[in-house]
Amino acid sequence: DPRVITDKEEMRRWSRAMRCQGKLIGFVPTMGYLHRGHLALVEEARKHSDVVVVSIYVNPGQFSPTEDLATYPSDFQGDILKLKSVPGGVDVVFHPQNLYDYGIKAKCGRGVNGNGSGAGSAVSCLEAKGFGHETWVRVERLEKGMCGKSRPVFFRGVATIVSKLFNIVEPDVALFGKKDYQQWRIIQQMVRDLDFPIRIIGSEIVRDSDGLAMSSRNVHLSPEDRQKALSISQSLSKAKIAAETGQVDSKSLRDAVIQEITESGGKVDYAEIVDQESLEAVEEDITSPVVFCVAAWFGKVRLIDNAEISH
Ligand code: PAJ
Repeated sequence: DPRVITDKEEMRRWSRAMRCQGKLIGFVPTMGYLHRGHLALVEEARKHSDVVVVSIYVNPGQFSPTEDLATYPSDFQGDILKLKSVPGGVDVVFHPQNLYDYGIKAKCGRGVNGNGSGAGSAVSCLEAKGFGHETWVRVERLEKGMCGKSRPVFFRGVATIVSKLFNIVEPDVALFGKKDYQQWRIIQQMVRDLDFPIRIIGSEIVRDSDGLAMSSRNVHLSPEDRQKALSISQSLSKAKIAAETGQVDSKSLRDAVIQEITESGGKVDYAEIVDQESLEAVEEDITSPVVFCVAAWFGKVRLIDNAEISH
């Protein structure tokens, strides 16, 4: 069985003891309710390290007060069973209770951004709790587009919690899924910019047999919406084939995807073709490796998916 650690000092002691033994530490950060996408990251981590740590922590700092923090699914015992089924298993499950409670009462009940008024004020579910956390990591350019546009506090929260987890777990290698393509690129950039001594590996998207990208949030889809949501992966794979066989006009590729998802009953948040490295939008012909990224709502569930298009 994996060892479950809830205390951050104990986590760091364990990692340091492993490093003293010359072991390479692999790390897979998650928010739990694990599925095969997460387990593929664990398997990949095994290939690059001697011991594997999986964290399970639903981070309030990356949810806005109007988002689904309260209904985010969880099943800790089920997660442990799934992790046991991975060949080689995992060594530690890091499951902290609250990574923002420093045992200090904040002077004012809220963080500096906590009044929620004024242009550009960004508030997550964390500020209202008054833990006095006020340091945030921002990857300024990469976080602006796509998911950052509709979720203004999301990547600030992700970059900050991943920094905290890196400082607690002190891994050599960390694995991220390309399902969250922009997140993966932001973490790579952050590690480069802040000199974290950690190798970041991106892992391929894992799909259900019908093509839907696996996500903890899929459990909230009604059977009808789940069927309709197949229009995301289906339209993306058509676009990929079209682009790779010469139909390189970005606008018509985007129009086709938006149309297919809309006709199925989804509400497109964005459908963008961006450079794989810079994530800059490609508005005309595709002339370099790009990734076609989509976010769409089906009922109350927001799904994301993407397809890399080689050129
Ligand atoms: P979570 O959504 O639990 O995802 C954890 C990791 O699993 C991420 O790297 C994500 O990209 C990857 N993943 C999810 N579904 C996948 C799929 N179908 N195929 C491949 N990889 C998949 O992403 C987060 O948590 C959080 O933002 C986190 C990084 C833990 C910070 O809180």
